[in-house]
Formats: sequence, C-alpha cells, structure tokens
Amino acid sequence: MKGSFKHFMQKEIHEQPESMVQTMRGRMVTCDEGKTAERVFLGGMVNFVSTIRRSRRIILCGCGTSYNSAIAVRQLMEELTELPVTLELASDVLDRQCPFFRDDTCVFISQSGETADTLKAMQYAKERGALCVGIVNTVGSAISRSTDCGVHINAGAEIGVASTKAYTCQIVAMVLLALALSEDSISRATRRKEIMQSLLGLPEAVRTALKLDAQMLALAEALKDEQSLLLFGRGYNYATALEGALKVKEVALLHSEGILAGEMKHGPLALVDETMPLVVVATRDGSYAKQESVVQQLRARGGRLILIATEGDDQIAEVAGKDATIIWVPEVEDCLQAVVNIVPLQLLSYHLTVLRGHNVDQPRNLAKSVTVE
Ligand code: UD1
Ligand code: BG6
Repeated sequence: MKGSFKHFMQKEIHEQPESMVQTMRGRMVTCDEGKTAERVFLGGMVNFVSTIRRSRRIILCGCGTSYNSAIAVRQLMEELTELPVTLELASDVLDRQCPFFRDDTCVFISQSGETADTLKAMQYAKERGALCVGIVNTVGSAISRSTDCGVHINAGAEIGVASTKAYTCQIVAMVLLALALSEDSISRATRRKEIMQSLLGLPEAVRTALKLDAQMLALAEALKDEQSLLLFGRGYNYATALEGALKVKEVALLHSEGILAGEMKHGPLALVDETMPLVVVATRDGSYAKQESVVQQLRARGGRLILIATEGDDQIAEVAGKDATIIWVPEVEDCLQAVVNIVPLQLLSYHLTVLRGHNVDQPRNLAKSVTVE
C-alpha cells in the first residue's frame, strides 16, 4: 500500500497534487479544454448557499490540523462573503458553552469525521438551531452523516497519524465553498476568476514544491539535534506557521512554536539569539512588507534564519543575508499560497522524524482519530 515509499506520511505528502485534483474533480466548471475556469459547482451545497449568505456569521470549527485549515481560509471567507467569520476549537465550544444561534452557519472540519470533540460541538450547534456544514474526508462518517450539508474533500484514505494531504485538500474545499458563496457578487467577479484560475494550476505548483525534498533532508540534518524551532507567519500564512510547528512537534517530537509575526515583539522575541533556528514565511502577498521588517529584526538579533520565499525574490534574500537558508517556492494566488508553503515544512518534519529515530506513522501517545473527549 505504501508503494515505493517508506512510510504512509511520506506517501501522503507526495500524493497531494493528485489528491487536490480529486478535491476539485467535477467541482470546477471549465472551458477551453479545461484551461479556463468558469465557475464552481458544489453538488452538496446548491440548496444551502442562499441560507448561508443570509447567516449573521460563519463559524469554522475543528481540532488539530483541521482547525489550522480553518485559520488558512478565514481571511478569504471574510473577503468573499463579507460575513464575520470566527474560529472555534471544538473542545472550547463545549467548555465555554459558546453562544450559537439559529442564524449562524457552523462549518465542522474533520478528516476522519469521527473526532469526539468536533462531533459533540456539531450536536451542540444543531440543538441551538444553527445550520451545520461538514468539510469531511471520510464518506459515511458520523459528522458527514449528521451535518445538514457539506463537501467531501475526496483526498483518499489518510493513514499516517500526522495529517498532510487532508490539510491541503480541506483548504482547497473551503476555498471552493467561499467561491460558491460569493457567486452572485459582480464586484468580486475578477478576484473569483483569478482564484479559480490559480486553483487549476495548484497541483502543478505543489508538484514543484515537492522537488524541495532533497533540500529539506539537508535542512533536517542540520536541525536534528536542536531543542526548539520557532516559525513566524501572518495573514494567510499564520496557518502555515502553526501547522508547520504542529507537524514538527507531533511526529519529530521536537519542541516547536508557530507564532503570529505581528505578536513577535510581545514576547517571542525574547527567545531569539544566535542559536535559535527561526523559520519565517515571507512569500509575496499583502503581508510581504511587514514580513520583510520581521526578517530584518530577527537578523539584527543574530537569529538563524530559514525563509520560505517566492521564487526569484532577490529582495528578500538580500534582507535575510548570506547566512540565511532560503526555501524557494512557486507563486500562486495569495489565498492559496499556504497550500504550497506547507509542503516543504511537511517534508522537513518527515525527515526530522526519521533522522531522530522516531515512529513516523504512529507518533508516541497520539491516535489518528480521537473518539473520546
Ligand atoms: C456526489 C457523490 C459523488 C458523485 C457526484 C456526482 C457521494 C458521497 N458523492 O458528490 O460520488 O461523483 O455527486 O455529481 O455520493 N454532505 C454532508 N456533510 C458532509 C459532507 C457531505 O451532509 O460533511 C452531503 C452533501 O451535502 C451532499 C452529500 O453529502 O448532499 C454528498 O456530498 P459530496 O460528496 O461532497 O457531493 P458531490 O460532490 O455532489
Ligand atoms: C487527531 C490527529 O489529534 O485529530 C490530528 O492526530 C488531527 O492529526 C486531529 O488533526 C483532528 O482530526 P480530524 O479527523 O477531526 O481532522
């Protein structure tokens, strides 16, 4: 089942281009023999789009990696729907007994569709009359069956405990949902077209990012004895910092922290010295100028910089200095860049795990599907 791969996690990282083709199959209406995107069609959502548009807010809810995928799409969902979009960790919904209402749309994101906290949060939302939408990989799972409607991400079975392809396909599925929800907006037609066009090229961009494997192995060699790793991101790529850190801690068993770069001066900067490895996501988007300044400040404190940057961006390479390691990634539409940027970090965490001698597919103390609270 693993084919030529040594571990399921490795296989699942490398099959992401094909998985996201499956997520989009039948859902992107195209012309010009598939070269031009026309519109999005989500069979399971057509009867619910107008209800969602009339909601007073959208709540995205999940656990672990599924929650991180919600962070990645929040900004786009807000932009395209013009609705307030809030994020909830499923366990916290229950702990706080969150105020949910009849005119809320609650989106529950889960690879397995069986996570107890997410399922209970969904039942809680349903009892309060909210519309419950699922973004689920496993057809026939509890969350898939008991939500009012939803989108199966169709990523294929994910066996490795650390979620990889489900994460990127969840983002793609929710981008499709955001596009479907804004279909009647004329003012957003150009933006929608650009995103849809970029979606068509996304599998190829991810394929290019997978070619970073050898560089990530070399980086893992250099980092394997470290005690800690900090990752800085903002905007669309705050999720990349959190998800990269989660991958490194859950499989490589190396302490790592994803930090919103805007919070750097409010605490994390104290940890920065000449020994601390720092990953900064600094690809070109609306946050670029601010990330450039973050790189400058970290460099000024002697931090060991590792940048994720847009191919051909000499400017950021100069700011980072000759001692920095630069991971060059292909450019896609800003709201999809997180899908490309996470790939080298998935590869890094995979190689770190193997080099540190830990179990890749069954990390210590963790389970693929957490069916108890
Ligand atoms: C469906 C078929 C797919 C077929 C396609 C043809 C299924 C599972 N999918 O895909 O095999 O190729 O039509 O048009 O039969 N749903 C939830 N909660 C969730 C996920 C989904 O309620 O978490 C619901 C949807 O609202 C929908 C149904 O389940 O009613 C199937 O969802 P999905 O597979 O995403 O729909 P299609 O893409 O239309
Ligand atoms: C577990 C897994 O903690 O559940 C994680 O180890 C996963 O990888 C999380 O992200 C949520 O799972 P699901 O199936 O609801 O997406």
